[in-house]
Amino acid sequence: MKALITGGSGGIGSTICDYFKQQNIIVVNPSRNELDLSNPNNIKDYLNSIEDLNIIINNAGINDLTYIDTTSLNEIINTFNVNFFSPYVIVSHFLDKFKKQNYGRILNVSSILGSYSKDARSTYSSSKAALHSFTKSIVTETKGFNILTNTISPGYIDTKLTSKNNTPEQLVKLISKVPVRKLGQSMEIAKWAHRLTVGNEYINGQEIIIDGGLTCTI
Ligand SMILES: NC(=O)c1ccc[n+]([C@@H]2O[C@H](COP(=O)([O-])OP(=O)(O)OC[C@H]3O[C@@H](n4cnc5c(N)ncnc54)[C@H](OP(=O)(O)O)[C@@H]3O)[C@@H](O)[C@H]2O)c1
Repeated sequence: MKALITGGSGGIGSTICDYFKQQNIIVVNPSRNELDLSNPNNIKDYLNSIEDLNIIINNAGINDLTYIDTTSLNEIINTFNVNFFSPYVIVSHFLDKFKKQNYGRILNVSSILGSYSKDARSTYSSSKAALHSFTKSIVTETKGFNILTNTISPGYIDTKLTSKNNTPEQLVKLISKVPVRKLGQSMEIAKWAHRLTVGNEYINGQEIIIDGGLTCTI
């Protein structure tokens, strides 16, 4: 088994890469220098160099805080390039190969902020909503080819992305709202990523929310 995992230098991505390697899966984990997702027009050469792929995990993502009334078009495009357009191009590139080999597992890492939002998250939330919508579109266009596609939507996971966008005071407040009273751990995401790809034969087109119950409460 061979998996392409984007964003492998980040908190969640590096844990997924390590966990998959422990399970004897060959991991293709390009650095940003090798595969810069901020320019989807330029990623084809790198994708062409990957052979015999079975699994795609679109994990890389950015969450730059901007308010709607001052967000520039470039800021919107930049977020969508990394969080949605590049994952789309990656899936598009491998889909025919997955169909020919009658096997493929695709996992898109979205966010609970794809269904809900917070101040300054308009571009992030919109891009993550688009990514989960794409999951369902892939399912409709891969019928009969043993290709299973799902979304994982984390809540607040203990990574640098979470500490960058929330002050320590905000984090304490946030944790008090999570029914399990703690941040999630990357390993939890990694185990589900494995379960939903190599360990999966029938879950298809679903969004698995891993948020400690946060989105159950108002
Ligand atoms: N942490 C959370 O609480 C949380 C919650 C919900 C959803 N998520 C989602 O989970 C995924 C991983 O999050 P994380 O917390 O692990 O984030 P992170 O620590 O900030 O890591 C993000 C990863 O994406 C890569 N990346 C960013 N821009 C890129 C670009 N232009 N080209 C290639 N790679 C790029 C980063 O590479 P560099 O090292 O080069 O920057 C890094 O490896 C993201 O999609 C995020 O939206 C996270």
